[in-house]
Amino acid sequence: MKLLQDKVALITGASRGIGKAIALRLAGEGANIAFTDLREDENMQAVVKEIEALGVKAKGYASNAADLNQTLETVEKIVADFGRIDVLVNNAGITKDGLLLKMSEEQWDAVINVNLKSVFNFTKAVQPIMLKQRSGSIVNMSSVVGVSGNAGQTNYSASKAGIIGFTKSVAKEIGSRNIRCNAIAPGFIITDMTGQLSEEVRKAWAEKIPLKRGGTPEDVANVCLFLASDLSSYVSGQVLHVCGGMNM
Ligand code: NAI
Repeated sequence: MKLLQDKVALITGASRGIGKAIALRLAGEGANIAFTDLREDENMQAVVKEIEALGVKAKGYASNAADLNQTLETVEKIVADFGRIDVLVNNAGITKDGLLLKMSEEQWDAVINVNLKSVFNFTKAVQPIMLKQRSGSIVNMSSVVGVSGNAGQTNYSASKAGIIGFTKSVAKEIGSRNIRCNAIAPGFIITDMTGQLSEEVRKAWAEKIPLKRGGTPEDVANVCLFLASDLSSYVSGQVLHVCGGMNM
């Protein structure tokens, strides 16, 4: 029996990167996959095909996770298409880096809305469904910089720290209904997001990591599978660092 046989997982921002790796990993363990991203483009269609090739149901939804109304509509469609939601992975995120002295209000608002408000939006929309089912696992994508802070990322670090407070509070609010809520704090993971950094900066990061390499999206997806499945049945309100030993 696969770890997530016949379960339904909803993942935000999964047309590429860590979200895509999570979608494929959960699908490989039998989960049917509903996922969102900003646009219904060739990336989204390709991910649907890759997931379906694993023998489960898959559908992509164009939806801005920062928008509550779009989120509520999307979750309604997903329930109509899939019948239930067992796992929610709040993964969508962006960076708009810059020193605070030069950071615009637009840079601040965009990052807080996409990274933090989206977690409120999707958790709020999915909560009634999980409450009715009396089970569920919510996994929120934070970051090591939400714990440690990072120069040039006041907006991003604040959004990721906010996710940790939100995660712990949700775990306390609905734990009695058999709904678990945890966060993952990835370190330096090689995706399009970190691809924006120069070769020099990437090498400097790898040097600081005890395991001496950047992480892969699959490194994060494996931990997400643990938190999404019953392997972590007594784990809630926790932040699991996936950072090659960088944050200890
Ligand atoms: P990525 O940029 O490769 O992928 C993010 C995906 O989210 C994209 O497909 C993008 O279109 C989508 N997205 C962006 N805004 C959205 C919105 N408003 N609504 C719906 N979808 C939206 O990023 P990556 O690296 O895969 O990151 C995934 C998550 O992991 C993010 O929350 C990020 O902050 C977090 N993370 C990444 C780290 C890294 O080193 N790559 C380290 C720590 C955390």
